[in-house]
Amino acid sequence: MAKLYVNPNVKKGHINPELQGHFSEHLGRCIYEGIYVGEHSDIPNVNSMRVDVVEALKEINVPVLRWPGGCFADEYHWKDGIGPKETRKKMINTHWGCVVEDNSFGTHEFMELCRQLGCKTYINGNLGSGTVREMSEWVEYMTYDGISPMTELRKENGREEPWKVDYFGVGNENWGCGGNMRPQYYGDLYRHYQTYIRNYHPEAPIQKIACGANSDDYYWTEKVLETTFDHGFGYMSGLSLHHYTLPTGNWEKKGSSTEFDEKDWYRTLKNTLKMETLIQRHGAIMDQFDPDKKIGMMVDEWGTWYDVEPGTNPGFLYQQNTVRDAVVAGINLNIFNKNCDRVKMANIAQMVNVLQSVLLTDKEKMIKTPTYHVFHMYKVHQDAELVDSHIETKQIGIEEEIQVPNLTESVSMGKDGKLHVTLTNLSLEEATDIEAIFAETNVKTVKGTILTGGMKDYNTFENPDVVHSVAFELIKVEGNKVIFTIPARSVLALEVEV
Ligand code: AHR
Repeated sequence: MAKLYVNPNVKKGHINPELQGHFSEHLGRCIYEGIYVGEHSDIPNVNSMRVDVVEALKEINVPVLRWPGGCFADEYHWKDGIGPKETRKKMINTHWGCVVEDNSFGTHEFMELCRQLGCKTYINGNLGSGTVREMSEWVEYMTYDGISPMTELRKENGREEPWKVDYFGVGNENWGCGGNMRPQYYGDLYRHYQTYIRNYHPEAPIQKIACGANSDDYYWTEKVLETTFDHGFGYMSGLSLHHYTLPTGNWEKKGSSTEFDEKDWYRTLKNTLKMETLIQRHGAIMDQFDPDKKIGMMVDEWGTWYDVEPGTNPGFLYQQNTVRDAVVAGINLNIFNKNCDRVKMANIAQMVNVLQSVLLTDKEKMIKTPTYHVFHMYKVHQDAELVDSHIETKQIGIEEEIQVPNLTESVSMGKDGKLHVTLTNLSLEEATDIEAIFAETNVKTVKGTILTGGMKDYNTFENPDVVHSVAFELIKVEGNKVIFTIPARSVLALEVEV
């Protein structure tokens, strides 16, 4: 019997809703087809946005959406995406499949999407191939309400009021696709560009995000902070971190999303768990410059990355999503919760039809992936307080070097005082009996929801409901204890009233 200790009286920090954020890039069928179909489409839409997709996303309370990339961001020239659609410039999306980008989804359309979703806006600016003026004018166009050339232009394009930009990224992956820069050079450019991102609304300033490291590139974090950080100056609200889960760790041969064996299962989970080490080690460097944790770590790209589905465009990054992905999502979201003192945002890559998507579409059809259901189960953590908790685990796996703990967890208390416990069981075979002990309180009621299945189970357009969450009732309450068995390969959520 594994013991889970929960002390509801010890709060460890606020869980920003943004820890369950999303990312949408002009990549493959994410924006076009997946979200935006145009007003004349036969697919039901409101102002060109798919109704089915928006409705499904509203159910998981998307808190924030990052756009337009990704690598695409550093090639995106925002003025190409405003004004009458017929006259918008067409370009080649050189990063992603060399398809024609007609710019029909631009700033106005992104803001409309966020309006429909009721989420915060995270715009990623172009530092790699754009000018300081271009970036500055974009912010002016979106957020200024005084007299100015960009305000006039926005009004000419049909939008009187400014929009709210919550977050603004100053470049993306500038160590790679965003310009192949050295951290010191990027740091200087960050200082330069961010100067001209004016805050026209000081009462609700735009939160500026600097480009952070690729996975375990600790040198990047140290040098960017060394170059940019002036104590007390506060011109950086966040530093990003990108970490993808590759089953093999090999970019040339990542592995299939649906055809994999036990070894791949454990390797994938082990690579996912690396997120904890990355947060700790990048966090320790950030602590040296920012001990009060004013700068958020923004894990604005995370998720599984497999070989594309056979027969699909290699540049579109379309992949299926199994129970393995659900467990990956549960592990990562637990890790973000546990590190909510430093991690202030995290964005799964990507929202629809790309990498570890929550939704997949095929023409008029749409399905929810196992990952979607995990977001649904975890949404109760949004805006809650992290509660002190610890679970007893043991190492499992199949070979000495592919070992992982059998369980992960996190616990939060919502505004209504209810406790939310989320657990993942990483084991392929073994269910585990758990005794959850709640300190200094008695448990009144417990409700459970579970997602489990065969390791390779997934939803298809023909069978959309193979993997989904269901009520979990095999729970015993004894005083301050909750006793249950978590099945192998599962994600479990408990709502506990004390
Ligand atoms: O999410 C796909 C790509 O992964 C993004 O464009 C880039 O930022 C990252 O390398």
